Amino acid sequence: MDNRERFLNARRIIFVACGTSWHASLIGEYLIEDFCRIPVEVEYASEFRYRNPVIYPDDIVIAVSQSGETADTLAAIELAKQNGAFVYGICNVIGSSIARATDSGTYIHVGPEIGVASTKAFTGQVTVLTMLALMIARVKGTIDQECSRKIAKHLLDLPAVLEEVLRLNDRIADFSKIFTYAHNFIYLGRGYNYPTALEGALKLKEISYIHAEAYAAGELKHGTIALITDHVPVIAIATQKHIFAKTISNIREVKARGAYVVLLVTEDTAVDEGIADVIIRIPKEDDKFTVFPIAVVLQLIAYYASVQKGLDVDQPRNLAKSVTVE
Ligand code: M6R
Repeated sequence: MDNRERFLNARRIIFVACGTSWHASLIGEYLIEDFCRIPVEVEYASEFRYRNPVIYPDDIVIAVSQSGETADTLAAIELAKQNGAFVYGICNVIGSSIARATDSGTYIHVGPEIGVASTKAFTGQVTVLTMLALMIARVKGTIDQECSRKIAKHLLDLPAVLEEVLRLNDRIADFSKIFTYAHNFIYLGRGYNYPTALEGALKLKEISYIHAEAYAAGELKHGTIALITDHVPVIAIATQKHIFAKTISNIREVKARGAYVVLLVTEDTAVDEGIADVIIRIPKEDDKFTVFPIAVVLQLIAYYASVQKGLDVDQPRNLAKSVTVE
């Protein structure tokens, strides 16, 4: 069976990954379920390898890894292979162990990542996952030509969109200065931008050593709202039209409890200026594609929080670029 047939006949897709690659995989789940109507699961490789998971021979396991050397992801691949699944790799480092251990795959080709924190790998992984979802959907006929063209155009336009986002650099540097007082941050997102919020929180923890957690905004009322005070800044992403009003009502709740709110919206969104302390407007995009500009804004926030604290952004304490041991 060739790759195309395998993807066409897949009973299920299971992603295995760690850290940032796990966040990109969550976006992969949303994309593949949305475009291709194939059920998807996303597993922490470190859990998957030790928990006796059900794996069918007609499952496709996709291992996502920047370095291609992550020990847990490699072990998850071995388990998938022992159970007869087809394993597809999405790696950055050419010729890496994961690239060699998988049955087939794609390189993201973003060039070497020098800093310990994954940055361009995240956007590269999501780009490849969008292309993969698009290809499967085309072959399966789950999206029409018009939609397929639009997605391809969005991908082609991305470099220009990201250049526009980089123009926000000075503004982000400016407001990030105030964050040195905070010991805890909350990130809120929904839909495609829930994984991006998780990724933003990880970046902040990793390079600025400020504790941060991300939540799906609808979960706020189920406990997290108890954490909100005027010392807990909230970074809120509200880019999805169909649930925009709901997200705004979540933001009103945190604002009413004194939080300093940084709101990320698309430039065509009308918002009451009083709802947030800072409003960052990213280029108008379809919700799935806001993941890219939002990821860059969140990386810049983490970067400037780290710089303000005088930390080494590229070499954060306690971390290695590749986690080759357990
Ligand atoms: O090389 P990998 O993508 O397999 O690495 C997985 C994680 O260790 C990695 O993404 C880690 O979370 C990053 N330092 C996050 O910036």
